[in-house]
Amino acid sequence: MGLRTVIRSVGHYVPERCVTNDELSTLMDTTDAWITERTGIKERRFIEKEGISTADLGERAARQALERGGWSPADIDLIVVATLSPDYYFPGVGVMLQQRLGCRTIPAIDLRAQCSGFVYGLSCIDGYVKSRQASKILFVCAEVQSPVLDLTTRGREMAVLFGDGAGALTLEAVGIEEEGDISTPGIIDSYLGSDGSGADVLCMKVPGTATPGFISAAAVEEHVIHPQMEGKVVFKNAVTRLLETANVLLQRNGLCADQIDLLVPHQANLRINEMVREHLGLAPERVVNNIHRYGNTTAATIPIGVSEAVSDGRLQAGKLVMTLAFGAGFTWGGNLIRW
Ligand code: ACO
Repeated sequence: MGLRTVIRSVGHYVPERCVTNDELSTLMDTTDAWITERTGIKERRFIEKEGISTADLGERAARQALERGGWSPADIDLIVVATLSPDYYFPGVGVMLQQRLGCRTIPAIDLRAQCSGFVYGLSCIDGYVKSRQASKILFVCAEVQSPVLDLTTRGREMAVLFGDGAGALTLEAVGIEEEGDISTPGIIDSYLGSDGSGADVLCMKVPGTATPGFISAAAVEEHVIHPQMEGKVVFKNAVTRLLETANVLLQRNGLCADQIDLLVPHQANLRINEMVREHLGLAPERVVNNIHRYGNTTAATIPIGVSEAVSDGRLQAGKLVMTLAFGAGFTWGGNLIRW
């Protein structure tokens, strides 16, 4: 008998502090009109005070997912965390959640794939399930990004895009009769890619071992301790790779785009998602977009979108879901899931 990875429950948490475009325009030379027109973002959530960490947000989302799934922390046999904003340089957030939640001494893995963290994580978890190394998994995607943004005019291209938030899933190994049956609930397929020639196009280089002294006074003075991006290059690559991913997932599963009930794309820019939607010929109501409320919460965008779609009834048992993501690295990928 084969195994399939089934999503049992989803949860999410965003900080209460809502930062509007108008509020950002008091800190830097930007406007609500520019941000709305170029990105679709109207507001985002920032942690309420310094020191609230990625593990804090991740723990809130994880507890909600566990409660909704009817699991206790003792049930879990693997923790996977996707984040680019860990509490410490090391160890990772996974071990912090193992301790905070009171899990057994199970493996805890931190995964670094930036905005593709969710789609990479789901693919890795599916591999652990199919190789029978894990059967009850907690997957947390969490980011606290506001403290590293340059909230001045110098950093405006990046600063207006990002927000803080977390999403979490519980997933379980379930026996199936027929391997390739796309009507059976669970993860049907995943497709991942990377192209390191884009590493310097979207990055945060300091602190890091490539910097003499790890974090130098010069780096602080020259403001390279913040994320940097060549926005147009990222934009073009994102559209190309998201469509490549969608087409591979459709073709190798014998599907046409019309059979996708819900597309949950990463939330980097509404214009990117609109281009992808139009190319695939999907109606707007078949695409989950919440970038106007949260901005880009990096690894957390897709699980937050999925969690909201479950809560508002758009995502119900039997629906065919496609996720798509592109981010720093470059990394990209997607998953096909029967809900
Ligand atoms: N407010 C006002 N003006 C701004 C702002 C701002 N916040 N930011 C930039 N500008 C200015 C620029 O300086 C430029 O001025 P200039 O014409 O005088 O030189 C002008 O606005 C136009 O800038 P463009 O680069 O043409 O704007 P564009 O339409 O490309 O939008 C954006 C920029 C929103 C960043 C877009 O390129 C984008 O979304 N890129 C992709 C982002 C993405 O997908 N990231 C991946 C995920 S992130 C991760 O993995 C961590």
